Amino acid sequence: MTRITNFIAGEWVAPIHGEYAESVNPSRTSEVITGYPLSTKEDVDKAVAAARKAFPAWRQMPAPKRAEILYRAAELLRNAKPELAKIVTREMGKVYSEGLGDIQEAIDMAYYMAGEGRRLVGETVPCELPHKDGKSIRVPHGLFALITPWNFPVAIPVWKIFSALICGNTAVFKPSSDSPFCAASLVEILEQAGLPCGVLNLVMGPGRQIGDYLACHPEVDGISFTGSSAVGEALARKAAELHRPIAMEMGGKNAILILKDADLDLALQGVLWGAFGTSGQRCTAASRVIVEQPVYEAFVSRLVKAAQALRLGDGMLAETDVGPLINEAAMTKVLDYIKIGQEEGAELLCGGKRASEGALQQGFFVRPTVFAGARPEMRIVQEEIFGPVVAVMPCADYEHGVKLVNGSCYGLSSSIYTRDVNYAARAEGDIDSGLVYINASTIGAEIQLPFGGFKHSGSGHPECGGRMGAIDFYSRVKVIYRDFSGRLQKAQIDEDSR
Ligand code: UN1
Repeated sequence: MTRITNFIAGEWVAPIHGEYAESVNPSRTSEVITGYPLSTKEDVDKAVAAARKAFPAWRQMPAPKRAEILYRAAELLRNAKPELAKIVTREMGKVYSEGLGDIQEAIDMAYYMAGEGRRLVGETVPCELPHKDGKSIRVPHGLFALITPWNFPVAIPVWKIFSALICGNTAVFKPSSDSPFCAASLVEILEQAGLPCGVLNLVMGPGRQIGDYLACHPEVDGISFTGSSAVGEALARKAAELHRPIAMEMGGKNAILILKDADLDLALQGVLWGAFGTSGQRCTAASRVIVEQPVYEAFVSRLVKAAQALRLGDGMLAETDVGPLINEAAMTKVLDYIKIGQEEGAELLCGGKRASEGALQQGFFVRPTVFAGARPEMRIVQEEIFGPVVAVMPCADYEHGVKLVNGSCYGLSSSIYTRDVNYAARAEGDIDSGLVYINASTIGAEIQLPFGGFKHSGSGHPECGGRMGAIDFYSRVKVIYRDFSGRLQKAQIDEDSR
């Protein structure tokens, strides 16, 4: 068995207390992927000290030079794509084609943020006084705590790490304990790309032991977190007291609205992909489907048939459609919600149980599950399940459908299927979520636009690219006025400024 270590100040180092845990393949739990450190606060202190020490030189390095390292990392990621995708599939279970997608998203983001090294735009504007000019520039915050999930074990860390680094911040990266090998493999790539010592530090271990401690560490200047709403909101309260910026990407209860004029074949494919892709373990997974009454019955029966035909299995096998859930606790949670749905009176039409025939008993497999006749107040309609479970509800018309879509405390991603251009255009404005898809599923965001949720799904600091994406969060704006008149000039007061 391999055993990975933390990466601090440019060295791979064992945790101070020498304790390790094991990361296993969720398709086959007897297969241990790696031992990984159960780090403690002392390890976090070391990592924070290293990142702090590296900050002045990294900040001073011209951004296009920082970008050269990111370009090299992008190339290395590209060369290692198949190998890294295999690590993703083995460690977190998503099917191999999705593993490749995870790495591709990281590659795209790496190139995008490397390009930012030659942009990082500010503004220059005319001043009201003569012989005076003004501009805004971007400066780093300092040291970021980056806390990431396992469901996109390479892509989401890259969203955060590359954005933080290109802006001139240093970072301590605390990945999920369910994907430590993916995290270490990514950090190795950055090491090979020539990142200076201490700019990025990796500390592994359970969130409740070191995540909070890292985020609240006195030497940390900013926090980025992707995970559950409960943890994110608790962190946000602490961040507010500490007066430090925090970006949070949290839960979702994403809905697909299907109007009666929609292309139902296309809508069906979108629902299958949105609900059961990555076994429903995406923040953007579709877990509610709202269908206009005249096509409701027909759509539900087609959906059930198609869901039953999906093949569960090890994500490395070409015939697999749906992989396992990440761990036993996740599987238990999903099975509990299925019980709750039945008790609430929703109609369980397919799935609803663990799949345990043959090789499947060695992993955490739950059959794709469809509930029909769900009502808006049900827990299976309101709470994030994070598994292959979808609740279908009828709606009377477009207005009723939009009301159901928006009837959630979450607002990450939504979708509408219709051939009516007017409804499609109205939905852009009416649907209250950070991402809205027209005639496409709730998943499929690209990195050149911001990615973030409304309401309890996010903090309003989107990740990824575009003018309003991650750069705004990972940099501070500083404004500089330069007066070259050689005399005291008073803005708003001097006559010749009118
Ligand atoms: C997530 O849902 O957890 O939109 C992230 C997508 C991906 C990112 C999803 N690019 O499908």
